[in-house]
Amino acid sequence: MVAFPTETVYGLGANALDAAAVAKIFAAKGRPEYNPLIVHVASASAAKRLVRRWDERAEKLAAAFWPGPLTLVLPKSPEVPDSVTAGLDTVAIRVPAHPVAAALLEASQLAIAAPSANRSSEVSPTRAEHVLKSLGGRIDLILDGGATDVGIESTVVDLTDDVARILRPGVIGIDRIREHIAIEPAASNVGEAAPRPSPGMLDRHYAPRAVVRLFSHEELDEVRREIAYATEVQEVTGAIIFPGVDINATHVVRMPDDAAGYARVLYETFHALDDRGCDILFVQRPPRSSEWDGVRDRVQRAAHAG
Ligand code: TXA
Ligand code: MG
Repeated sequence: MVAFPTETVYGLGANALDAAAVAKIFAAKGRPEYNPLIVHVASASAAKRLVRRWDERAEKLAAAFWPGPLTLVLPKSPEVPDSVTAGLDTVAIRVPAHPVAAALLEASQLAIAAPSANRSSEVSPTRAEHVLKSLGGRIDLILDGGATDVGIESTVVDLTDDVARILRPGVIGIDRIREHIAIEPAASNVGEAAPRPSPGMLDRHYAPRAVVRLFSHEELDEVRREIAYATEVQEVTGAIIFPGVDINATHVVRMPDDAAGYARVLYETFHALDDRGCDILFVQRPPRSSEWDGVRDRVQRAAHAG
């Protein structure tokens, strides 16, 4: 079992075709066995060996986005253990772009099953330090590749039906995918990738320890009053806001106003504000446009936790 950087978040990896190795991942994370894992491979040709059907849509998306932060769900071949797919007849696969992930796949010559390298329900790690904080003492090795670039988990696309569908939004948005294939959006806007019938839908996911309160620009005055009250009752407050907004929380973080820049630092910000002992995080709602789908999904998930 080895934690390693990908371009999205750090993964906790083990030989995907070895059920005993895969069991160790579930144990270390405290992950429910009904939540399937993503299999990481070195190339599209390695991916083809793990599936029963590789259609034209898979070919197009792999050519356009691999290596990169896109995961494809396809009918699985028999050699993929049931524990990897939580008993589903499908498997989620991607080719990561991070050079350390690529080197690990090359050196091991394995398909590597890897969920995010955090205890189940915690915020995903974007630095080796985050992995150590969450899983230290429970895993054998962490490869430190510094901060990850993308910052939120891959876009997950289901290709098992005639209608392709996004199961989990990410930085590769639906508009970019539509340049290559026809595809439908996530069924719900709070979308942990959810294989039918929803094994991955955990109540708490992508959630910091602090309570998260999402607010829109119109609610600014109300939020200022809530922060003043929280401060009065000795609570440590954090505000995650856009440039140009003024708020007096204990810790204020001004986020980049582009979606990719925001995604890159979102989890890092959650980790940092948790470390500073924040009780409540006031998070300004990201824009509604489709390039923000991945970010919006993660902040909504964090706010719905509890
Ligand atoms: O960017 C990422 O995807 C990171 C890095 C490490 O690659 N991995 C990651 O893994 O986020 P994890 O386990 O935290 O999330 C995997 C998601 C879950 O939402 C799971 O439900 C979904 O992928 N998934 C896995 N297998 C599936 C399947 N056969 N059908 C539908 N969804 C599946
Ligand atoms: Mg995860």
